[in-house]
Amino acid sequence: MGNSSIDTDFLVIGGGIAGLIFAIKAAETGTVTVLTKAASDEANTAYAQGGIASVWSVDDTFESHIEDTLRAGAGLCDRAAVEAIVRDGPEAVRDLIALGANFTRIEGGGEDEYDLGREGGHSHRRVLHAQDLTGREIMRALGEAARGRANLRVLENHVAVDLLIERGANGEAAQCWGAYALDKASRSVQKIVARTTLLATGGAGKVYLYTTNPDIASGDGVAIAYRAGAPIANMEFYQFHPTCLYHPAAKSFLISEALRGEGAILRLPDGAPFMKHYHPDAELAPRDIVARAIDSEMKRLGLDCVYLDISHRDPAYIRTRFPNIYQRCLGYGFDLTAAPIPVVPAAHYMCGGVMTDLSARTPIARLYAAGEVAMTGLHGANRLASNSLLEAAVMGRRAFADARARLAHDEGAPPAFPEWDPGAAIQSEQRVLITQSWDEIRRLMWNYVGIVRSDRRLERALRRIQMLREEIHSYYWDHLLDSDLIELRNLAIVAELVVRCAMARKESRGLHYTIDYPDRDDAHWLRNTVLRRDN
Ligand code: FAD
Ligand code: SIN
Repeated sequence: MGNSSIDTDFLVIGGGIAGLIFAIKAAETGTVTVLTKAASDEANTAYAQGGIASVWSVDDTFESHIEDTLRAGAGLCDRAAVEAIVRDGPEAVRDLIALGANFTRIEGGGEDEYDLGREGGHSHRRVLHAQDLTGREIMRALGEAARGRANLRVLENHVAVDLLIERGANGEAAQCWGAYALDKASRSVQKIVARTTLLATGGAGKVYLYTTNPDIASGDGVAIAYRAGAPIANMEFYQFHPTCLYHPAAKSFLISEALRGEGAILRLPDGAPFMKHYHPDAELAPRDIVARAIDSEMKRLGLDCVYLDISHRDPAYIRTRFPNIYQRCLGYGFDLTAAPIPVVPAAHYMCGGVMTDLSARTPIARLYAAGEVAMTGLHGANRLASNSLLEAAVMGRRAFADARARLAHDEGAPPAFPEWDPGAAIQSEQRVLITQSWDEIRRLMWNYVGIVRSDRRLERALRRIQMLREEIHSYYWDHLLDSDLIELRNLAIVAELVVRCAMARKESRGLHYTIDYPDRDDAHWLRNTVLRRDN
């Protein structure tokens, strides 16, 4: 139970694609400590199916990928971010390949000839993939590469709690020198002092009742950065993936957009296709439009789900191209090759997050953020499919390049931070207090802050969340830390940030749709929604 201290050059909070790319590079120049809050292979990255978007074929161009990204982002992308990240894409993908990632090749093709998938909003085939298990393959390759680096250690089951922040003269967060982290096994809190800290904690899908995300996705990085004083932006733009398998035991298992890329059609229970009524690109319209169309058809007809049909394609092709999805569906009694399967939307991706520049710097010196936790300006009001693995890979590299340059002439020294003090906190016995609040937040976010919003629903959500936050706050400081309590506290903050951003934006744009302001309003709202905690 005793608390302890670690010194490291680089602290990487999160071991998904963004964190590992940074860590593997950083290990060439210093000592690296990577924290993962669960097992090291459990991350959103591991679940990615469709793939990683990057200009690869000779028919494709950077300009086309840039235009597609800007179009999906509904006027809110930062053009400089889009250009930089898209142009860095091929190099970042080559890095992944050099580190051992095996993407699916064209049969009989040359060294560099990869099978390129198509997804909604992309005007070219440009999605490199490893069949339908892209994320697992990336995690395998990066995990092996990380294990081979002597300077790099991964501390599994270590949950970052808060950052070590040196305050400036006015109380502002001036520099970050690492973090406190809970070791779940010993239940002790360690002080980890680092010259550079990267937040790479991924998304926050668990803030919603139904999500494609695994349990680790509780938005810890956003909450941690917010508490420290970093600006958080665009949290209203939570992306719902249109197609998750509708089955009580499937836990929102994702049915990749790549199926629609290969011709799958969305149908009503009577077999009628409906996407043409919503967008000329039908099934390949941007995700916000497809998710909203499904939601609208379900509400209009009182349906529990709609259906996705790829059964017109050759069964052998379906089994080879989508082996994982095919097998998983079969396990739930649905044969993709024979009949349409039931699908519903679920919360999927956090487009907002910790604001960074194009070197992944936050305004707090020594603190970087990369991957889903960050808001670079790439996605704007709606992320283009398969642009997130791209962003995470590119920004992990950029963060390292900046940190290395900075550390070359870094003479700063950390102040003395105290060891973690549990004070008079006691062991938590009333688990129901945690599970009840957790459930309430996720349910009210789903019902009031989902695909379609209104002022009244948002106001109601905010009131409930603020009350829950007060309860959680007092419970938090009276009890010894455990990971559920840490996550609950973070989840409540993230929920509040989503609601406050949604309330601030008096228009509908991209992923944010409200019946009270159904139109896009470029005259007033061509800007980010930024929240910052008062010091
Ligand atoms: P993650 O991969 O989520 O890693 C987060 C890490 O942070 C984990 O190691 C976790 O343990 C750790 N962590 C979190 N909190 C703490 C804490 N407090 N202390 C210590 N460690 C912590 N994107 C695409 O581009 N293409 C796709 O095909 C695609 N498919 C997807 C399919 C699914 C089902 C899902 C869920 C997402 C998909 N995405 C896809 C999105 C993409 O996978 C993620 O955006 C991306 O992998 C995020 O990577 P990351 O490195 O930022 O975070
Ligand atoms: C999918 O395979 O549909 C997910 C792609 C993504 O989220 O980018």
